[in-house]
Amino acid sequence: MSEPVPVMATEAALPTRTSTDAVMEAVDLAQSYEVSRGLFAKSATVKAVAGVSFRLAPRSTLAVVGESGSGKSTLARMLTLIERPGSGALRLDDTDVAEADAATRRRYRGEVQMVFQNPYGSLNPRQTVGKAIEEPLLVNTTLSATERRERALDMMKRVGLRPEHHGRYPHMFSGGQRQRIAIARALVLRPKILVLDEPVSALDVSVRAQVLNLLVELQESLGVAYVFVSHDLGVVRHMADEVLVMYLGRAVEHGPRDAIFGAPKHPYTRALLSATPVADPEARKDRIVLEGELPSPFNPPKGCPFNPRCPLVMDRCRVEMPPLERKGAQLVACWAVS
Ligand SMILES: Nc1ncnc2c1ncn2[C@@H]1O[C@H](COP(=O)(O)OP(=O)(O)OP(=O)(O)O)[C@@H](O)[C@H]1O
Ligand SMILES: [Mg+2]
Repeated sequence: MSEPVPVMATEAALPTRTSTDAVMEAVDLAQSYEVSRGLFAKSATVKAVAGVSFRLAPRSTLAVVGESGSGKSTLARMLTLIERPGSGALRLDDTDVAEADAATRRRYRGEVQMVFQNPYGSLNPRQTVGKAIEEPLLVNTTLSATERRERALDMMKRVGLRPEHHGRYPHMFSGGQRQRIAIARALVLRPKILVLDEPVSALDVSVRAQVLNLLVELQESLGVAYVFVSHDLGVVRHMADEVLVMYLGRAVEHGPRDAIFGAPKHPYTRALLSATPVADPEARKDRIVLEGELPSPFNPPKGCPFNPRCPLVMDRCRVEMPPLERKGAQLVACWAVS
């Protein structure tokens, strides 16, 4: 992102990170898939998410960052109750929805909504904008047609759409406006939590900051908490309260935004950060280049999953998986840093 996004949420307005009133708590969430490897080969298991834990404070933003294939979307699908976790707990209001029956899961589905990367694919081309935004109300509430329309118009205003857009079709809008429509649709039920999976990655750089600023404003006015998934640390820099960095399905570093950006510890986080564009050319001097590809999730390396690409690798890293431990202000899974 070339333009810095002004931060509108003041530190004082944010909840304290030690508060126990999390709106969502994930405990060791994991998901594996059986994948066929052809006619004569045995099927293999992919550990898409291998144990992720966090607490999401009300009105706060947790950014989940990592390369393609690190398990971010799989985690997002578990958090939005689209997919039941393979193991672990997911608490909403102290109810473990991972274990809950179908009726309970349906009840909680309205509280956690999702915005997808591609605003073109997530909207029905034959449905007007107004109908698209009203649909969740039609399915989940007993509101009258007039009330639904009022709610939709209110939400459209909040996301920067005009009343006359209500009767128009998605193809008449730009990518940025379509993402505003998708955000309005996700928020119209007033969920406590919004999970955004790469919400600005498909947008032109020029409209990214506008959509990010809109999300910051909506968080303030509606009091919604975000889980913001991105492959780009630069995008989440100004809106995250906490950052969780994933590598091959695991959290390798997790902590307050200022610690992750100001004093990153895991060599993977440092490499990701040095790959994000910075305005200061002097800062580019200590660029760490991430070599090699993400290893195959079918056959992850022994020991620390990052060891084949790590500049700090030691013998121990090739044998023993480092636990996620507190090191300074953050949690880090690395044998080489303290
Ligand atoms: N339904 C599925 N069946 C089989 N494998 C899957 C399935 N969903 C995800 N995977 C595998 O799990 C791993 C994690 O995938 P996931 O889509 O969660 O990653 P991601 O971090 O969202 O990547 P991207 O940045 O490309 O969106 C990948 O190796 C992927 O191939
Ligand atoms: Mg994804």
